[in-house]
Amino acid sequence: MKLVIIGTGFVGVTSSAVYASFGHQVYGVDVDEGKIASLSRGEVPFYEPKLAPLLQSGLSSGNLHFTTSYREAIEGAHIVIFAVGTPSREDGSIDLQYLETSLKQAADYLQPQTIVAIKSTVLPGTLDLVKKIVSERCPHQLHYASLPEFLKEGSAVDDTLYPDRVVIGVEDDFTYRLLEQLHAPLKAPLLRVSPASAQLAKYASNDYLALRIVYANVISEICHHAGADIDEVLAIMGSEKRIGSHYWYPGLGYGGSCFPKDVKALAAYTKQFLSDSENLFAFINGLNNKRPLQVLNKLEQTMGGFHGKKIAVLGLSFKPNTDDQREAPALFIIPYLLEHGAVVTSYDPMVKAIASETIGSQPNYRQLPSIAEAVAGADAIIALIEWQEIISFDFSSVKEAKKQYLFDVRNQLIPEKIKLAGFYYLGNGRYSK
Ligand code: UDX
Repeated sequence: MKLVIIGTGFVGVTSSAVYASFGHQVYGVDVDEGKIASLSRGEVPFYEPKLAPLLQSGLSSGNLHFTTSYREAIEGAHIVIFAVGTPSREDGSIDLQYLETSLKQAADYLQPQTIVAIKSTVLPGTLDLVKKIVSERCPHQLHYASLPEFLKEGSAVDDTLYPDRVVIGVEDDFTYRLLEQLHAPLKAPLLRVSPASAQLAKYASNDYLALRIVYANVISEICHHAGADIDEVLAIMGSEKRIGSHYWYPGLGYGGSCFPKDVKALAAYTKQFLSDSENLFAFINGLNNKRPLQVLNKLEQTMGGFHGKKIAVLGLSFKPNTDDQREAPALFIIPYLLEHGAVVTSYDPMVKAIASETIGSQPNYRQLPSIAEAVAGADAIIALIEWQEIISFDFSSVKEAKKQYLFDVRNQLIPEKIKLAGFYYLGNGRYSK
């Protein structure tokens, strides 16, 4: 089969490499020439574990190609998959400009019976717009599908190779059969549904996970007032089969490229038919936005303010195993600390430079090449992201004349061990420890 993936972000590159590993001829397309050149050399322009070797084996087998030419990629293709970004607009609604532009560029080369599949996260109803844009430029009979992705950054390859399910939103048997054949090597349950169900299910899944995180954080806040321990409360709740113990460790709220955007998108979409007081998604978004300050204020109070204090922030990405800083808590925390008079050092295993000129150029901010250097002389250490290197760091090796605070934002450290190492330990909702 000849496949085309338009958009070489982490979804597009991972999908291209995985489909190529099934023996298909896959063409990844992007307008960014630099990105295409580096992908063609086998270099992934972002950090994603396991992706580079898969990409390189696709290129050397001759199954995987990257190009900026829509014509070269699309001529003779059976399936064209759109995996371009759909970022948030100011009002939270999704911006379809990249999808619209790429559809217009592709339409001229589509041949009769090609399947146009949308992997980008889009709302129900978008397929009508897709058909309109394409049919204005392409006279042929085509097929349309919605193919939402559920992969996580940091484990994108495994999530694509071993998915919980593959959702195929189609309107006819021909399209389903070809997409079924494409995904057969995955040996995952294939769910055949309507395009609207597929599109909504993607948002509903992500927003439910976001809700779980917000819920855990609200309970963590209650623990603070109740003198309870969030880990104990979540362990008890999680042992209930209907709830399950996965996916709700407390923290500073969810970040990244999907949850914030997808919650805001449903908040904006449902505004059309839900009143403000019924808009659960707007409420989730609001609670998540308040979370970092809620947590930071506790550290501020405990330390008697940040002015003149030296604070080390460990972890600049939005979560471990990625160098993605979109909606990363560090981008809120560090400016807050600086504005309140702190001197900030930081460390991250993968992020080379903080994604903010304003922070990066401040005289009171420095990113250092190791944990040991970042924490030296600090009054407080904020273990912000649960990178393995950070949570397995031997804090007892830090020898300071003054007793330092260690704020374990994700409750990944063992409080007794940290206290024995000579620190004041502060967890998140771990108030009995
Ligand atoms: C998410 C979805 O999981 C994925 O299905 C979708 O396709 C893309 O968006 P991703 O953003 O890569 O994936 O990361 P994920 O691991 O889901 O984490 C999202 C955010 O939630 C991170 O900020 C993470 O730190 C936070 N989180 C996650 C918590 O705060 N607590 C948790 O228990 C889990």
